[in-house]
Amino acid sequence: MFQAVLFDLDGVICDTAEYHYQAWKQLAEEIGIQGVTRKFNEQLKGVSREESLKRILDLEGKREFYSDEEFSSLMKRKNDGYVQMIENVTKEDVYPGIEFLLTQLKKKGIKIALASASKNAPFLLEKMQLREYFDAIANPNEVKSSKPAPDIFLLAAEMVGVEIVESIGVEDAIAGIEAIKSAGALPIGVGRKEDLGEDISLVSSTSDLTIEFLERAWAEKR
Ligand code: G6P
Ligand code: MG
Repeated sequence: MFQAVLFDLDGVICDTAEYHYQAWKQLAEEIGIQGVTRKFNEQLKGVSREESLKRILDLEGKREFYSDEEFSSLMKRKNDGYVQMIENVTKEDVYPGIEFLLTQLKKKGIKIALASASKNAPFLLEKMQLREYFDAIANPNEVKSSKPAPDIFLLAAEMVGVEIVESIGVEDAIAGIEAIKSAGALPIGVGRKEDLGEDISLVSSTSDLTIEFLERAWAEKR
């Protein structure tokens, strides 16, 4: 049996993936870039703030038009917009089934860790009153490479003292699924096979993310 579940946050625990999208789209349009569509956004999901901005500027070959200072101020502008959007997040914003799953995992003594690339994640967990469930929160500032590199999942497993191969990772983003695979944990996707691949266990809604589902996926794939 698995000994730890390593959760992504945005798009897995709550709908903040949508706010990241809206905040990036707004910034992009303000600087004259129109290509931040939902389809393009799939490749921003799970990706760090810096890398996301690079990809957006690259849409129109605009990366070299901005100095390092201007680049930083664009990242800040996006984050300010995003922080405003998440100000009113509450317990009501937790996706269906998530809190129940967390209580079930706790009961079974399975470790729970957060492996989000977002620097706003601890703030969101507090807002949603979920912090107490988490045995560890991996800090994205402490890892060398961001998703799709495995680093944040490896750190999360290490922080709860569980071997990565004894862990499940839950993700809504292709970059995150790749990170889980290369770390060596078992990936579970929240989303569509068109976006996340045919070769992993998937749920289309977090309400299907039950402990029984995780146990079945573990028994099938491990
Ligand atoms: C998560 C989200 C991304 C976001 C990244 C950094 O991985 O899926 O959309 O860009 O975190 O978030 P931050 O809040 O630190 O800008
Ligand atoms: Mg996500």
